[in-house]
Amino acid sequence: MSSNTPQQPSSYSLAVVPGDGIGPEVTSAALAVLDAAEAAFGFTTTREVFSAGAHHYVATGELFAEIEERLRGHDAILFGSMGDPSVQPGILERGFILQMRQRFAQAANVRPVRLYPGVRTPIADLTPERCDLVIVRENTEGAYVGRGSTVHEGTPHAVAVQESINTKAGVARVVEYAFRLAAARRRKLTLCHKTNILVEAGKLWAGTVAEIGERYPEVEVDYVHVDAMCFHLPTAPERFDVVVTDNLFGDIITDLGATVQGGMGVAASANLNLDGSAPSMFEAIHGSAPDIAGTGAANPAGAVLSLSLLLGHLGEAEAAAAVEAAAVHVIGGMQSLTGPGMGGTTDEVGQAMAQAVTALAEGHLSSPLRDSLTGAMAAVRGGAQR
Ligand code: IPM
Ligand code: MN
Repeated sequence: MSSNTPQQPSSYSLAVVPGDGIGPEVTSAALAVLDAAEAAFGFTTTREVFSAGAHHYVATGELFAEIEERLRGHDAILFGSMGDPSVQPGILERGFILQMRQRFAQAANVRPVRLYPGVRTPIADLTPERCDLVIVRENTEGAYVGRGSTVHEGTPHAVAVQESINTKAGVARVVEYAFRLAAARRRKLTLCHKTNILVEAGKLWAGTVAEIGERYPEVEVDYVHVDAMCFHLPTAPERFDVVVTDNLFGDIITDLGATVQGGMGVAASANLNLDGSAPSMFEAIHGSAPDIAGTGAANPAGAVLSLSLLLGHLGEAEAAAAVEAAAVHVIGGMQSLTGPGMGGTTDEVGQAMAQAVTALAEGHLSSPLRDSLTGAMAAVRGGAQR
């Protein structure tokens, strides 16, 4: 390229899966914030919106498999939420969400637990300085492989076997990522498991952490049983920097983490593909909340903070930091994190966040945060393992 050729702005192709319930509302608020981020930071996106979820399934019988190849072609996936009483529990979870995580090798489910300034937490006296950790949940194996069987079903002698599969390769890839993330943050990694009872899986996890830890001598390694985690996480979150854990333990303790940071409405997540073989997916942790769908009562913060993770993952670090700061600026001023206490509808809150992105970029607003959630994630993105 000759030196006088103007540099083309970066462009990314996004797959957008709004889904059911409040998914479409919070996703559309996040896209309004994305519009503002593009205008302010000089990149562009193309967006392909996919119809999927309960209504689509009832109408067509289609789940993940039917759109897998079209999704695969995108740089990243922004996901709303799925689930509706019209579809039996388990069908969409297994047929879409878990399929996507497994088929796209989204090995690390990264769930930050960060108490933002101005957000009310149920934990008395907790301060933002004391609550800034990241839970890295294994995302493709464990009890989530869906293997098992029942014999003598429906009789008093019924036997139910549910398997938890842990592979060395699956554990190693997520542990490696967790070490890299810890090395770029405060250099502490905690394994959360139940090695005293789940002895076989525990050996594999603890052994893998010890082995990979040899290559990260600067990272302090700690271990906490999952039951003890339920005590320590709310009372002493400052003990943790990066926590690595198996799929089911991670599912459980990240809901606890969301509660500690102020509620499901503000919790974000990244489902990261670590080898570049398929797109990563970004979603709020909350469900589809069909009871409040369409009322404007849903807080889009979880979706907007997930968008921040998505932008950090794409390499748009400045935009990622601004989107996080804008979301925090707006939720920090709310009386409550859902419903009328937000001070506006889902749409209006999204607009306020979009305006805050613009104001931050133009220097009319200063960030309420000292650092960005995505800073360390960006530092380890794509970098070689040791
Ligand atoms: C989550 C959800 C999912 C899970 C469900 C919807 C399959 O609870 O993302 O934590 O169990 O992983
Ligand atoms: Mn969950």
